[in-house]
Amino acid sequence: MDCFVIQGGEPLEGHLRINGSKNAALPLLAASILTDQPVTLHDCPDLSDLRNMLVLLGELGVDRLNQRPLGVAERDADDPGTVVLQADPSGSTHARYDIVRTMRAGICVLGPVLARRGKARVSLPGGCSIGDRPIDLHLRGLEALGARIELDDGDVIAHAPTGANGRPRLRGATVFLGGPNGSTVLGTANVMSAAALAEGTTVIECAACEPEIVDLAAMLTAMGARIRGAGSPRVTIEGVESLAGCEHRVIPDRIEAGTFMAMAAITKGRLELTNCPLDALLAFSAVLGEAGVAVQRLDAGDPMRAHCVIDQQDRPRPAVVTTQPHPGFPTDLQAQTMAMLALADGNSVVTERIFPERFLHVAELTRMGAQLYRQGGTVVVSGVDKLRGAPVMASDLRASAGLVMAGLAAEGTTVVNRVYHLDRGYERLEERLAPLGAKIERVDERVVAV
Ligand code: EPZ
Repeated sequence: MDCFVIQGGEPLEGHLRINGSKNAALPLLAASILTDQPVTLHDCPDLSDLRNMLVLLGELGVDRLNQRPLGVAERDADDPGTVVLQADPSGSTHARYDIVRTMRAGICVLGPVLARRGKARVSLPGGCSIGDRPIDLHLRGLEALGARIELDDGDVIAHAPTGANGRPRLRGATVFLGGPNGSTVLGTANVMSAAALAEGTTVIECAACEPEIVDLAAMLTAMGARIRGAGSPRVTIEGVESLAGCEHRVIPDRIEAGTFMAMAAITKGRLELTNCPLDALLAFSAVLGEAGVAVQRLDAGDPMRAHCVIDQQDRPRPAVVTTQPHPGFPTDLQAQTMAMLALADGNSVVTERIFPERFLHVAELTRMGAQLYRQGGTVVVSGVDKLRGAPVMASDLRASAGLVMAGLAAEGTTVVNRVYHLDRGYERLEERLAPLGAKIERVDERVVAV
């Protein structure tokens, strides 16, 4: 296993292009199952989650027609991370545990396989370090479309009802996707993808409004689906008989962008970002504003692909942060924001409302000198004027990003173990940070232990 060895204290300075979004790309890749024609997706980052998704799709009879490596964004601007997929409609309908357990987003093949092939067997993904990850809302949504669902041997088994033409086909319906913490992003993706091929009209109430859902609707529409309202809590889908292939560019990764912004702030650096989805980061930008971190727009083009600069000279000011469904503050930036506020000039309050147990970074940041007091889903962050390097353990993807940030700002050496968590969501992070002045190296954990 690899770790990162970081010598802190260097301000990050330079330019970065934000990659395509992991969380948009995963359901987009899964939606290729809905057609037997080629689907071309540009700007797919080179991440272990995406590679695992391609393996899963391969098992489900989806061929990759081009063999270019993923994530060539910086190396070849003309053809960044392009994937061309073509599904064999008679492919397997079984997503096995061996693969789904490596990547919870494997669940997003459930809707497409069921809608296109009439049945699906998808292993339940099991536990997760950020807390319970139920899929009851996904199942409730698909049941509302007429699916018969049972559980067997740790797998969800779903069958579509018989349609008017005598073949299995889901039926449009009104589907309510509200849960205890708001809607569900991947549940909305599953139901929307499945409803695209259903008989009749589906209305999803309490749909997730995340930009990744808007991107999925854009791709499905390019395939011939009829979808209105994506990005709002009510999405209407008029089912069609079949979908065609398409060419689509994945939206930029708002969480990667937010992470780099927070890194500029915590290191008192200056980063220029291009392909930056500022429009999808309004709540995060508001918190940065409260913390005295200015984000300046340098162009007047598409606000989802902006050119901007973060230039920070001072310690951040304290802020109050509460995670919420989009357009509220994203849970996927909570750990990074906490790392930044750990060095603020005063007391901050961070409340997690989406995954109330998503605080594995708290104990690790404390080892670096952060003063954090947790009570249930809230952490009071009493800002300190410096963090000290230490060996720390990455536990989930975004917690790991928070620890790398703390390491970049800390005095001395920080070793972030288990960086495979980071590799799920940040492409070659050390190779992208080093040219910006970061002293960061990827090393085999056993070498550091010696
Ligand atoms: C997506 O997960 C993201 N993953 C997560 O990003 C992100 O943290 C999360 O949305 C919230 O924004 C991908 O897109 C691949 P949810 P998802 O269903 O869709 C509850 C990262 O770091 N819930 O929107 O699985 C659930 O417990 C990852 O990149 C139910 O109760 O999350 C949570 O409280 C981690 N029943 C809330 O809803 C369900 O059936 C939101 O979860 C489903 C969810």
